[in-house]
Amino acid sequence: MKTIKNIFGPKEEDIQLDMENIPRHVAIIMDGNGRWAKKRGLPRTAGHKAGIEVLREVIKASSELKIEFLTLYAFSTENWKRPKEEVSALMKLLVYYLQKEVKELHKNKVRIRTIGDITQLPHQVIGQIHKAVDLTKNNKGLTVNIALNYGGRDEIIRAVKNIWKENMEGNICIENMDEEKFSTYLDTGHLPDPDLLIRPSGEFRTSNFLLWQLAYAEFWFSNIYWPDFDKKHLYMAIRDYQMRHRRFGGLK
Ligand code: FPP
Repeated sequence: MKTIKNIFGPKEEDIQLDMENIPRHVAIIMDGNGRWAKKRGLPRTAGHKAGIEVLREVIKASSELKIEFLTLYAFSTENWKRPKEEVSALMKLLVYYLQKEVKELHKNKVRIRTIGDITQLPHQVIGQIHKAVDLTKNNKGLTVNIALNYGGRDEIIRAVKNIWKENMEGNICIENMDEEKFSTYLDTGHLPDPDLLIRPSGEFRTSNFLLWQLAYAEFWFSNIYWPDFDKKHLYMAIRDYQMRHRRFGGLK
């Protein structure tokens, strides 16, 4: 039996969501910050700052919809190639965000986790991440999973190295490796695969995000820049997701 929730979309368009078919795991590539800023004659960092402001509404709406996992692509293994001022501004923004929002997130029972190789991040960022993860570790609400110094290829290589090491130490038998076991070696070992990938800003690629995990995710693209994204776009993405027929390679 469908439980329909009516919400208003852009231009007061009614959006109906089936509350029994909400994606468990939503992944978002928060793209378009730079172009959003450029359009306004602002520095790129102003776009990233505006991008952070969006998170509060998206996290709240995700919690209300009872989405279980929200994975946000905040900094990729390739983003180090950006000018060092931009990289440094992004790191500062991360610290600012975690310092400013963690108490509120904790109050709302949000659990913060990360994926990616955070050991390469500045000490201050690592410190704030540890604090936020530790404070929220027993929360039972939405898990917000922040991808930091994350790359899908890098993650797979790190997993393979760990498997090789365990095999050499005789802890596992490589012949018994299968997809399910391999998944546990990825940074997302504690998460189900994403059901829905959202990418705003008019780009149509995965950009090294969750390469293994997105195998059967539904993709939702939009021309809107991330700082203009709000809960209505999340509802639209979920409404479209609910109209897809997921067959996972089968026939039904
Ligand atoms: C892509 O836009 C965005 C990023 C590389 C950074 C996204 C990071 C944030 C929104 C802030 C940190 C997030 C958290 C979870 C605290 P772009 O710069 O590539 O935009 P462009 O394609 O228009 O240049």
